Amino acid sequence: MIMKKYAPTARVHIETYKSEYRSDFIRLNREWIETFFRIEDSDIETFSHVDKIVEQGGQIFLAVTDHGEVAGCCALKHHSENESYELAQMAVSPLYQGHHIGHQLGMAVMEYARRHGIRRIYLEGNTRLKASIALFRSLGFREIPLQNNAYERCDILMCWEDEQQNRTDNKHSAIVMGGTSGIGYEVALILAKRGWRVGVAGRREDILKKMMAETDGIVAYEVIDVNKPQAVDGLHTLIGKMGGMDLYFHSSGIGYQNVALDADKELSTIETNCLGMARLVGEAFRYLEQHPETDGQIAVISSIARTKGLGAAPAYSASKRFTSHYLECLCQLTSIRNIRNIHITDIRPGFVRTPLLQGSPFPMQLDARRVAESIVDGLEKRKPVITINWLYHLLVFFWQMIPRAIWIRMKIR
Ligand SMILES: NC(=O)c1ccc[n+]([C@@H]2O[C@H](COP(=O)([O-])OP(=O)(O)OC[C@H]3O[C@@H](n4cnc5c(N)ncnc54)[C@H](OP(=O)(O)O)[C@@H]3O)[C@@H](O)[C@H]2O)c1
Repeated sequence: MIMKKYAPTARVHIETYKSEYRSDFIRLNREWIETFFRIEDSDIETFSHVDKIVEQGGQIFLAVTDHGEVAGCCALKHHSENESYELAQMAVSPLYQGHHIGHQLGMAVMEYARRHGIRRIYLEGNTRLKASIALFRSLGFREIPLQNNAYERCDILMCWEDEQQNRTDNKHSAIVMGGTSGIGYEVALILAKRGWRVGVAGRREDILKKMMAETDGIVAYEVIDVNKPQAVDGLHTLIGKMGGMDLYFHSSGIGYQNVALDADKELSTIETNCLGMARLVGEAFRYLEQHPETDGQIAVISSIARTKGLGAAPAYSASKRFTSHYLECLCQLTSIRNIRNIHITDIRPGFVRTPLLQGSPFPMQLDARRVAESIVDGLEKRKPVITINWLYHLLVFFWQMIPRAIWIRMKIR
């Protein structure tokens, strides 16, 4: 019969490193690594130079019982080559497991990070160790794409960010729907560069993950298909991850030249650009309405195609009229309901070189990065309408003057 050994006491306090704890640190780590994996070169390197962890700007935390026994440990390593911090070598003696010692160690690391202005901590883990992954998630670590792992046994990379500090820094939070490509992608990068905390959404998770891993300031993502009813839950999840939302930026959209009037193209355009847009923009509006403490903004890309009906792209052109009209309605609604904390912006670009226009013969295509710069400038000034650029501004001015009887005879393609 196997007798389970119980800890004489599970009461621990957390101490920082002293060299007398070196052998405990090595013992606890050897114990769990040899149970589940094998000792690697990186482990031997760490065990041979434990004191270096502290000397190089990191720290080691020990969970010590009332009897002076070391029940658990973990290290916060500083990597000066890329100014990053890593949570590593977390180990709890099997004798003391089930007493939340890992959680206490983790909390001590977060507390230490906050006191020392450390905003981001990485860790490499293994998904076989389900309890430890659950622990890290409960501490606020989330999965990011794995890259250059230092240990063979690791198959997951996780990252923690000090959201509390970010909030007290008064950084504004923006959500970019349709951030995986084209104008939305560029706007997300520019907002992040200008100090916003950005959450991105779209259907392509690989791109969203990569954006978050590669861009400081892009702090969260959520896979959202605006055409699915559960997209509104996705939006709330993303807002939760961000700890709030000051700006909702809607760039999700599709479009076709459809002279053949293919039904699928027409209907899917209406579904995404009208229904999907109204679903998400409406939810963003309701969220901000319920958060009057937030001075919020909703910005949506319509297009200069909203100006007049374009025969070569009926659904697209009409969907942009719908979008623009919808935004005007929401503006008026804020007046009717005396809502003072929601500002609406209608963004109307001319032709922009993005995947949407790939292979199309349209003239005067604008550079997506420059268009995004103008959009963010306009957003930061809280402009109600942003038309890009001045040439298109002039063009739509003249379009509007053309009488209907003449317009419908024009062969614009
Ligand atoms: N390019 C132009 O000339 C131009 C001019 C005026 C206005 N606009 C408007 O600007 C917006 C962005 O267009 P773009 O040129 O940047 O095109 P794009 O590069 O094709 O980007 C479109 C974005 O919409 C997202 N999207 C499409 N369907 C979606 C869905 N069902 N759910 C969630 N996201 C969806 C895509 O993400 P996923 O594929 O990852 O879902 C992608 O991020 C569109 O509304 C477009 O009509 C474009």
